[in-house]
Parts: sequence; structure tokens; C-alpha cells
Amino acid sequence: MPYLSPALNVMTTAARKAGRGLIRDFGELENLQVSLKGPADFVSTADRRTERILVEELTRARPGYNFLVEESGVIEGPDKTHRFIIDPLDGTTNFLHSIPHFAISIALEREGQLASAVVFNPVTDEMYTAERSHGAYLNEKRLRVAARKTLPESLIATGIPFLGREGHERFLGELAAVMNATAGVRRYGAAALDLAYVAAGRFDGFWERGLKAWDVAAGVLLVREAGGFVSNLEGRALALDAGHILVANETLHPQLLKLLKTSGQTIG
Ligand code: IPD
Ligand code: CA
Ligand code: CA
Repeated sequence: MPYLSPALNVMTTAARKAGRGLIRDFGELENLQVSLKGPADFVSTADRRTERILVEELTRARPGYNFLVEESGVIEGPDKTHRFIIDPLDGTTNFLHSIPHFAISIALEREGQLASAVVFNPVTDEMYTAERSHGAYLNEKRLRVAARKTLPESLIATGIPFLGREGHERFLGELAAVMNATAGVRRYGAAALDLAYVAAGRFDGFWERGLKAWDVAAGVLLVREAGGFVSNLEGRALALDAGHILVANETLHPQLLKLLKTSGQTIG
């Protein structure tokens, strides 16, 4: 059975409620895909509505807590020791294209430390939870990062920069290095789920640049509580707003770090 702290209980309840709305909107999108106006406006409305539901639910259960949320930014409360960090819809581009791979991501920080995490994919009904020092779970199942020890047997996830993002050249160098050394690279389009998949041992590692605190906060705790290793791409302790991240098991982490650090020298 997953460890369900009172905070996790509140967070999973909020995620399920908001998830029901997202599922309804996802169904509606199918009709909109063919319309001339396109579904983009509809998706940003769904995104904002999901965020509102989450903030309302969590505020009702935990009045006074602070928030950092993707759409509204900082919402200040009098309780400076607690902060929810939320991405209401991670994988927006997938959602927009009717690809059923997206999630709600909620982390709770207590005195600046990640304490509880929820990543919920409402389509597959996969609820990932973690509580500091109490492990990570996928629904009822305890999670453990994969045990693979060598790069040639490893499957690595990443995020590809796109229009409006920096670092295209650097990414191509990193990709060349990783694709030449591993069993494969995946780009699924939802960083919170990429991290959850590492926690679940599906992916052996994940790296990405250009991420925000709300993309990674919950997933980082999932990976740590599943026994994984988390750092920035310089190999140092991760600050949530660092913008770059590398996670893997403790054997693969240094190997991937070395590969990525030297990748600029492999390709121009
Ligand atoms: C995005 C996803 C994607 C990652 C982007 C993020 P959004 O978040 O996590 O996988 O590559 O960097 O911005 O916009 O779908 O919430
Ligand atoms: Ca996101
Ligand atoms: Ca988002």
C-alpha cells in the first residue's frame, strides 16, 4: 500500500478532481481538431481551468500555503513554510494533438525541501506518489529505479528544444553522444512523466534543458524516493529553478554526466 500522508491525500484528491475535467476536455478536443479555428484556445482555457480547480481544492484543504503555479505564477499565503509547486497540464503539445500522454504535477515543499509529490496521468489512471523518506509508488506498487548498469543496455529519455527555445546546436551534440552509446533515446513530451518513468524503472535516465521548477519538482522527489540520483547537468545538487536536469540510477548517472559534458567535443 502506498504511504498516504495527510498532505498526499489532499494532493491526490485534488489531482483526481482536476483530472476528470481534463479527460472531458480531451474528449471534446477530438471534435475541435478538424475545426478551422483549431483547438489552441480551447487548450489554454482547459489548462487555466485545471489550474484553478487545483488551487481552489488545495487552498480549501491547506489555507495559507504559498503556491508557484505555471499560469498564475506566485500566489502568496501567510504560511511561509509551505509551498505547492504545480504544473496543471504537463505535455500541452501532446494534449493539443490528441496524444494521450500528459499529466498533472503537484509538489509540496516544506521549509524549502520537497516533502510530497503527485504526478497523475488521468488517461491511463496512473497515480505516482512520493513522500520524503517513505518511498515512491505507482498506484499500489512501490517503485524502484532500474538496475541496469551499462549505457549500451539503457533507454534514455530527453526533451528536444523547439521553436522559441535556445540550445538547438548543443542539444544535437548531446543527442549524438547519447544515441551512439545507448540502446535508444525517447522524447515523449511530458517532463513530469519522463521523471515518473525513471522512478518506475521504465526509462534508465533522463536529461533536459530549459525546464522550469513546476516541470520537475514532483518528478524529482519521485526519482529520489525510488532510489535514483538527481543533479543538474553540471553534476551539482539540483536547484529547482536551475533549468537543466539529469536523473538516473547511481551507476549510470556518472556515466551519462560524463557523456553529456564531453558531447560538445564530439560534434560541433
Ligand atoms: C513541457 C513538457 C515537455 C518539455 C518542455 C516543457 P508543458 O511542459 O514538459 O516535455 O520538453 O520543456 O515546457 O508546456 O507541456 O507544460
Ligand atoms: Ca510543463
Ligand atoms: Ca504546463
